[in-house]
Amino acid sequence: MSNVNVQLNDRPLGHRITGLDLSRDISDAEFDELRQLYERYGVIVVSGQDMSPEQQIRFSQRFSELVRFPMAQFNLADYPDILVVSNVIENGKPIGVGDAGRCWHTDMWYTDAPPRGSLLYALEVPVENGRALGDTMFASTSHAYDTLSSDMKNFLEGRMATFSHDYHAEWRANQTASEKSGARKTRSETSIPDNRHPLVKIHPKTGRKCLYVSEGAIVAIDGMEHAEAMALVDELLQHVTREDVVYRHNWAVGDLLMWDNYSCLHCAIGDFPASLRRRMYRTTIR
Ligand code: SIN
Repeated sequence: MSNVNVQLNDRPLGHRITGLDLSRDISDAEFDELRQLYERYGVIVVSGQDMSPEQQIRFSQRFSELVRFPMAQFNLADYPDILVVSNVIENGKPIGVGDAGRCWHTDMWYTDAPPRGSLLYALEVPVENGRALGDTMFASTSHAYDTLSSDMKNFLEGRMATFSHDYHAEWRANQTASEKSGARKTRSETSIPDNRHPLVKIHPKTGRKCLYVSEGAIVAIDGMEHAEAMALVDELLQHVTREDVVYRHNWAVGDLLMWDNYSCLHCAIGDFPASLRRRMYRTTIR
């Protein structure tokens, strides 16, 4: 009998898997079961882990080849397949990306072939008055597609959108400025060219249709006026991230969260003071 147990919550995703110790090489049968749960739900939580960087890399490589984060200074020294997501400063330098994912997004949408998924492992979690802070929220893009009206599904069929990293950098800077009541920033030039994705993608493993949107990323939609396109992006984002379908993960040290970039959006809340340490290791699968 299998050791793998699933504790379902009342959301489409974010279910908890117990009974696995990923620091050892789990059997092919256990791995297959886990892979199927990951594909079915899009986000799973494997809690209570105690893994070294080598063990995280070895486990992640069972899914596929790994993708290195392009800003190499944030990859773990000696283990460049691991991206450090952290607010910790050591010797005057950030050890990782401090504000990763502070908006609804799917990872690396600014590339032509975004990676399939990510595995984020919690080593240090900020805690205040006994409560862990720095939650991450997840919303299912396949559930969102399934619950669109048939008119909207028809309208979106085959429709392409232009995604812009330059626009996103400006959008993020303005968000941060308005959070801090600072001055508006103008469009910044990054070295990443605009790219194009369909608004509906077909999941390569499950065949399910998934909405492909990210906050502050889309600048144009084929066949639509700018204002109309922006209103559609807002409508789709609101539909995907409705409060009653969002799974909000309250982290504990030892949690490994696996998400699928086709079938979910995620957003890191970042509600903790700089004095509290948060440190996580992310591997990214192609
Ligand atoms: C990410 O988007 O990769 C980071 C999420 C988090 O820090 O919770």
